[in-house]
Amino acid sequence: VTAQVLVVGSANADLVVAADRRPQGGQTVLGGDTEVLPGGKGANTAVAAGKLGADVALLCAVGDDANGTLLLDSLRSSGVRTDLVRVVPKPTGLAFITVTPDGENSILVSPGANHALRPDDVAGCLPGPEVVVVSMEVPLDTVEYAVNAAAAAGTTTILNLSPVAAVPAPTLAVVDVLVVNQHEAAWLLGRAEDSAVTTSELPALLELGPRAAVVTSGARGAVVVEAGGLTEIPSPSVDVVDTTGAGDAFAGALATALAQGSALADAVEDAVRVAALSVTRRGAQPSYPTVAELR
Ligand code: RIB
Ligand code: NA
Repeated sequence: VTAQVLVVGSANADLVVAADRRPQGGQTVLGGDTEVLPGGKGANTAVAAGKLGADVALLCAVGDDANGTLLLDSLRSSGVRTDLVRVVPKPTGLAFITVTPDGENSILVSPGANHALRPDDVAGCLPGPEVVVVSMEVPLDTVEYAVNAAAAAGTTTILNLSPVAAVPAPTLAVVDVLVVNQHEAAWLLGRAEDSAVTTSELPALLELGPRAAVVTSGARGAVVVEAGGLTEIPSPSVDVVDTTGAGDAFAGALATALAQGSALADAVEDAVRVAALSVTRRGAQPSYPTVAELR
């Protein structure tokens, strides 16, 4: 049985510690208690879609350990199909996350089982889904294979290029919707990742090949870049508690709306609202809204 939305990406257990400041090189900082929460960019995206009522499956790899069970439980209780989840003899991926009082996070990922996700695993899943969402944190050849095979099958392809990495040009060329944040956009445009990109520079992203690009910019919302021009979608203003996984929630909501037939700008409007709601609560997956909350 094929799901309407297929997510290909990582699954991690997030070890989250709140701290007044993040440790710099050579520093030791005392934080609060550790929370272990289901995360990983792929699993987050799938859970966001599942909570919004999408018919969604996640292709990922977890370990045969308690953290793998944590992930599977979260996926199932969010309505995500788990028959494509591979359980492999490696530890489930771990993300060490520091969250500061401004809601900002820094993340160190130890991929573990995510390394085991191979192009062959993707091959059996296509054709079928209407929308395929691919994110990073899994081997690059798997990302490439997933995007190209999905495009060849006539599927709408969304590439959430997070964390940003050099994806070969032929792969970017078959992406329908490239999703990046401002830092990732700057990097793609050959700039320092911490430099600011102006809206007028964003059309250059299309020269990399995708049919459209969506650039998220936190509290300011998102910009849709299409051949026909730019559309700015503002975000509702919210009290920020924890931004972890907001981009993944965005991608999951975008995929859900596109699979339901929404036009891109309308889908981005939904995605901006879902991401805004997610930052008002702690953690990634546990913070994502249901379709009822969205309405
Ligand atoms: O995007 C947020 C996610 O990044 C976290 O859940 C963490 O697991 C890392 O993958
Ligand atoms: Na959150």
